[in-house]
Amino acid sequence: MKQDLLLTGCKLAAMQQGECAYGLIGNGAVFLRAGRIAWVGDADSIPAEYAGSETENLGGRLVTPALIDCHTHLVFGGNRAKEFEMRLNGASYEDIAGTGGGIISTVKATRAATDGELIELALKRIDDLISEGVGVVEIKSGYGLTIDDEIRMLRVARRLETLRPVKIVTTWLAAHAVPPEYTGRADAYIDEIAIPGLQQAAAEGLVDAVDGFCENIAFSRDQIERVFIAAKALGLPVKLHAEQLSDQKGALLAARYSGLSADHLEYLDEKDVEAFAASGAVAVLLPGAFYMLGETKLPPVSAFRTNGVDIAIATDCNPGSSPISSILTAMNMACTQFAVTPEEALLGVTRHAAKALGLSDQYGIIAPGYMAELAIWDADHPAELSYWVGGSPLHKYITRRAMK
Ligand code: NIG
Ligand code: FE
Repeated sequence: MKQDLLLTGCKLAAMQQGECAYGLIGNGAVFLRAGRIAWVGDADSIPAEYAGSETENLGGRLVTPALIDCHTHLVFGGNRAKEFEMRLNGASYEDIAGTGGGIISTVKATRAATDGELIELALKRIDDLISEGVGVVEIKSGYGLTIDDEIRMLRVARRLETLRPVKIVTTWLAAHAVPPEYTGRADAYIDEIAIPGLQQAAAEGLVDAVDGFCENIAFSRDQIERVFIAAKALGLPVKLHAEQLSDQKGALLAARYSGLSADHLEYLDEKDVEAFAASGAVAVLLPGAFYMLGETKLPPVSAFRTNGVDIAIATDCNPGSSPISSILTAMNMACTQFAVTPEEALLGVTRHAAKALGLSDQYGIIAPGYMAELAIWDADHPAELSYWVGGSPLHKYITRRAMK
């Protein structure tokens, strides 16, 4: 076990509050001890007690916190390339969902897959993320839609953490779509599957947070609220797929239940941003879904800025709306499509993504006490992470998991 490591010769983007959000330190050094960051600062002021430790000179490379993908659905079977083709031939995402395709076609493929198959498929996506410096990945259920299959998805997700050096955060998303066996009986689905399944999964310790899809093609605010009440009774935080395709006032519902985040938000009314901001929830933007669905309605980014809403960026990796396993591509898309700045994009996959997962005290910045999870980049400036499209400038990835 490598207990101590001093990193020198690095340009640090610590992502702490400072003069700029990057928190840049030009000639930086970081001291890691027992899997945590023990000290960070200017290389000229390394405390004498650390100076003699095993040292690695990073040759002037850029160092950021390990990146965080705070919204994915990356455990699933099959793919939906045919639906992609149908959409390009004129069908809408809603049309396809309405005829048994969409989420339900992935539900069929996921139910039919073995645990081993789901793991193998998910590992490819996890490896893509790791190759871009991602150290924390949130994964949702939502393609099982029976109690057993939803729980199985979360077990598979947790298993990934034992196979790769990443932290996995699991989210219960049974309220994702109404499965065929409950057609026309969404309320019964909530009462018989989504809520009791949540209670069972939580009892097994498999749930870190509870999500839902509040939309015409999914669940109403009232139905989601019942799931939120069950979550709160279990002491679990909530979040919501809100305002992706229409304004359902879902973000305000998430805010009312002290949600960690509301995600998508293209159709969020600017007038609702102030109330949303007051809750302290993070706005998670998913530019991959916007891109793949050819969406044109933009999320209210300037209103988020004016009202001090923290913005996170995630891949939304899923087979329908966002078959994207590249966090750097998501950052680039957030910049080009949503006019998010590269600085906001990097904050969105570090400090603010940690907040969206309730992990603000352990991940997302380079500061004493935080996890020793760092990404080392062949880059001169953090804006490069949002700038290149394709290829990963990752030089290496330092993780306390590999340090054990
Ligand atoms: O975040 N919006 C709902 N859920 C996913 C899409 C899931 C799917 O199409 O399979 C999303 O975009
Ligand atoms: Fe999603």
